[in-house]
Amino acid sequence: MKVLVVGGGGREHALAWRLARSPRVQTVFVAPGNAGTAREAGLQNVPITDLAALADFAAAQSVAFTVVGPEGPLAGGIVDRFRERGLRIFGPTAQAAQLESSKDFAKAFMKRHGIPTADYETFTDAALAHRYVDARGAPIVIKADGLAAGKGVVVATTLAQAHEAIDAMLTDNRMGAAGARVVIEEFLSGEEASFIVLSDGRQVLPLATSQDHKRLLDGDAGPNTGGMGAYSPAPVVTPEIHARVLREIIQPTVQGMARDGIVFTGFLYAGLMIDEQGNPRTLEFNCRMGDPETQPIMARVKSDLAEVFELAIDGHLDRAEIAWDRRTALGVVMAAAGYPEDPRRGDVIEGLDADGNGAREDSLVFHAGTADQDNRIVTSGGRVLCVTALGDSLRLAQAGAYQRVQDIRFSGMQYRRDIGHRGLSRKR
Ligand code: AMP
Ligand code: GLY
Repeated sequence: MKVLVVGGGGREHALAWRLARSPRVQTVFVAPGNAGTAREAGLQNVPITDLAALADFAAAQSVAFTVVGPEGPLAGGIVDRFRERGLRIFGPTAQAAQLESSKDFAKAFMKRHGIPTADYETFTDAALAHRYVDARGAPIVIKADGLAAGKGVVVATTLAQAHEAIDAMLTDNRMGAAGARVVIEEFLSGEEASFIVLSDGRQVLPLATSQDHKRLLDGDAGPNTGGMGAYSPAPVVTPEIHARVLREIIQPTVQGMARDGIVFTGFLYAGLMIDEQGNPRTLEFNCRMGDPETQPIMARVKSDLAEVFELAIDGHLDRAEIAWDRRTALGVVMAAAGYPEDPRRGDVIEGLDADGNGAREDSLVFHAGTADQDNRIVTSGGRVLCVTALGDSLRLAQAGAYQRVQDIRFSGMQYRRDIGHRGLSRKR
């Protein structure tokens, strides 16, 4: 069968790579893909991003099903469009995708259904927002309501920062429409984890847990990014917390959406904050897999992933099962000069394997912002590569990934040296 993966980042490279290993899959089209997916056996890039043209392509090629990576096409209604045309696709409708595309929608939903999350208020009026933060004090968190590619959240440690964020979003309109409404919420402390499940609308199948590293610099310092590295599993999610997340957050979300008349199909990603006592609360929902969490998660999948997607699309997730590699996988993101503010393009990447990327026995180099230029691979986006390794322990996976990172060079490259630090510093 042929399948289609929509997107062109590291997440999509990892999904497509794993799908191509399913015995019944002949070709995985990746639209638009990157220089890594262009070189991977079994994958074929398709230079299409327009949603109607993607549906035409899927129909013309008789693809068995489509999986969508990023939130943009989901919020834009790609699932609705494909379904109208009788094309099989895994993802949420635009209406269901509001769990990610509107923070206010997600917060109101959680409040209505008693799903644990930070207290909040929503504002469109700057004066009222300023007054609210003065009354609540710092630390406090200011979030643009709309999609902002990971840049719409300001964790203000001082009142001055909070006021500045409100002015930037509500007064100066620096985030455009996404920031015309803001959610202001209580600061939560604890340890974060990513909890991602597949939903067929009624039943869910959890993926392995993972932990992202959102800040640019070592020690979780510097600006927020899309994610600088991840590992799976996340030891902070103990079996007991895992059960609580399913019972208190995931199942009430899928059931609550259905009760509100919106069937949630696709990936549901709860960004969790787990406090010292082990209480999980939801920081945010995404309606897709995480990037870079997908890279280590896919490195650990041992089952036929195409079969899992088909069961999910057909509403039979109760019959699906995923076997996981028991090892830990850890991915280090190598980002371009200037990321996240203004990533530079066109730097030549050296040290990749002759075929451009490389599955070696225990490590994989997933591409994100890469492109071909004059027979060379160059940077073409903020996050460039995600170097991922498997190991019998978190420490060994970390060592493997950083060893592979040493082979790769490009001008201005940025990467964190401490991916995995929270897991390694846990008391056992
Ligand atoms: P979000 O896009 O909502 O996940 O926010 C991005 C990042 O901001 C999260 O991964 C957290 O590190 C931080 N963050 C968001 N909301 C809160 C909160 N209520 N308390 C503390 N940190 C937060
Ligand atoms: N890595 C976090 C995200 O994809 O939202």
